[in-house]
Amino acid sequence: MARNVVVIGAQWGDEGKGKVVDILSSDAELIVRFQGGNNAGHTLVVDGEKTVLHHIPSGILHPGKLCAIGPGVVIDPEVILREIDALKARRLLADDRDLRLSGSAHVIMPWHRALDLAREESRGGARIGTTGRGIGPCYEDKAARSGIRLADLLDRDVLREKIARSLPEKNVLLAKLYGKEALRAEEILDSHLAYGERLRGYVDDIPRMLGRMEKEARSILFEGAQGALLDVDHGTYPYVTSSSTVAGGACAGAGIGPTRIDTVVGITKAYATRVGAGPFPTELHDEVGRRLQQVGQEFGSTTGRPRRCGWIDAVALRYAVRVSGIDGFVLNKLDVLSGVHPVKIAVAYRLAGEKVFEFPTSVKALEACEPVYEEMEGWSEDVRKARKMSQLPAAARRYLDRIQELTDTEILMVSVGPGREETIRIKNPFD
Ligand code: IMP
Repeated sequence: MARNVVVIGAQWGDEGKGKVVDILSSDAELIVRFQGGNNAGHTLVVDGEKTVLHHIPSGILHPGKLCAIGPGVVIDPEVILREIDALKARRLLADDRDLRLSGSAHVIMPWHRALDLAREESRGGARIGTTGRGIGPCYEDKAARSGIRLADLLDRDVLREKIARSLPEKNVLLAKLYGKEALRAEEILDSHLAYGERLRGYVDDIPRMLGRMEKEARSILFEGAQGALLDVDHGTYPYVTSSSTVAGGACAGAGIGPTRIDTVVGITKAYATRVGAGPFPTELHDEVGRRLQQVGQEFGSTTGRPRRCGWIDAVALRYAVRVSGIDGFVLNKLDVLSGVHPVKIAVAYRLAGEKVFEFPTSVKALEACEPVYEEMEGWSEDVRKARKMSQLPAAARRYLDRIQELTDTEILMVSVGPGREETIRIKNPFD
C-alpha cells in the first residue's frame, strides 16, 4: 500500500536527515523538499564516498527515483546548477526528468545574500548566526509579494521588470544603510536568464505531480530541512530560520492536503547540537561537549562552523513531537556516545525555582531555564557493528528505552555510524 511519509528534524537541525532520507528513499517513488533552501546541507556517505547536497533531495543518489523541489523552497540557481553538475560528474541524475523544480519556488537573488550578510554584520553581538545564504531576505520578499520565482527566470521581459522593481530599493539599503556596493541590474539580468535557460528543462508543476502520484497510489517521501526548534512560528524566535520546518510545512510547502499524510518521522541525534545563536538549555561547555564535537564531527556541512553540543533534551523533543505530530523517531549517532560516562537526559527544566515540563515559548524564559538531568550509566563498547537492538550493550538499550518513555514516542531506527548499512532498523514507516 502506498504511504506518504514526512521526515523532519526534531531538534535544531543537523540531525542527520540526509542519511535517513537516503535510506527511506528506497521505499518511496518521489522525494520532495518543501521548505528552506541552501542553508541546509546533507553530507551523505555512500560506498565510502562523500557527497554534500544543499538543494537536491538525498533521494537523487538512488537512480530512477523522482526528486522534486516544492513551491515552499527558496532556490539559489547558481548553487543548484553546481549540484546538478557534481551529480552528473558522478554519473548520477542520468535522466534530467528525475529532478523536477517548482516554477513557483522563489529565487535567492544576489541582493538577498548581500542583505543577509550586511544585516548580520550590523547586528554585532545580537546576530542570529544565519548561514549567510540569503534565506531570510528571500522569504521576506516572498511574503511582501515582491519576490522572483523560478518561472520568472524563463522570461526576459518579466525578469527585467521584476529586477527593475526590486533592485533600486535593495541598492538603497545596501549602499546607503550598510555602506556596501550597489548591484547592477543588467549583470543580474544576464546571469539569471542564463541560469533560467539551463534550468528550463527541470521546471514543473509540483502540486499537480503530487496529485498524479497520489492517484496512482505511489509512495511519497517529504524531506524537511533544519529542525522543529528552528521553525519561524514554533521555534526559538528570533533565533530561527524563515520557513515552516514543522511537519505541517510539508503540506503547505509541497502542495498536498494534511489528510494525505500517513506518518511523520522525527529525527534526533543521541545528543543535541545547535549552530548559530539562541538558547540551548543542555549545552555543554566542558570536556564532554568538546568530545561530542570531535567524535561526532560536529561542523556544519554548509558553513563549516563548529556546532554547539549538549545532552539530549526530552523537554524539547516532547515539544517537537507535539507541534509536528511525530509518530516515531529515528535516533542518529548513537556511536558517538560510546565511552561517555555517565550519559544524561534533560527530563525537565528549573525556571524561577519551579520545575517545568513544557518547552517555554519565550526565548527569555528558555534562556533562564536550567536543565534537570537524569543520569544513566554509559557504555564503552563500539556499537557500529550492531544491526539489531539485541546487539547493543544493555546500557545503550536502557538509554534508548528511557528516551522512548520520556517522549512517549517509539524509536523506528537507530543509526550507529555514517554509512548506509550502519543502521538498526526496527520499524519501517512505509509499512
Ligand atoms: P538562516 O536559515 O541562514 O537564515 O539561519 C537562521 C538560523 O538557522 C541560524 O541559527 C542557522 O545556523 C540555522 N540554520 C539554518 N539552516 C540550518 C541547518 O541546515 N542546520 C542547522 N542550523 C541551520
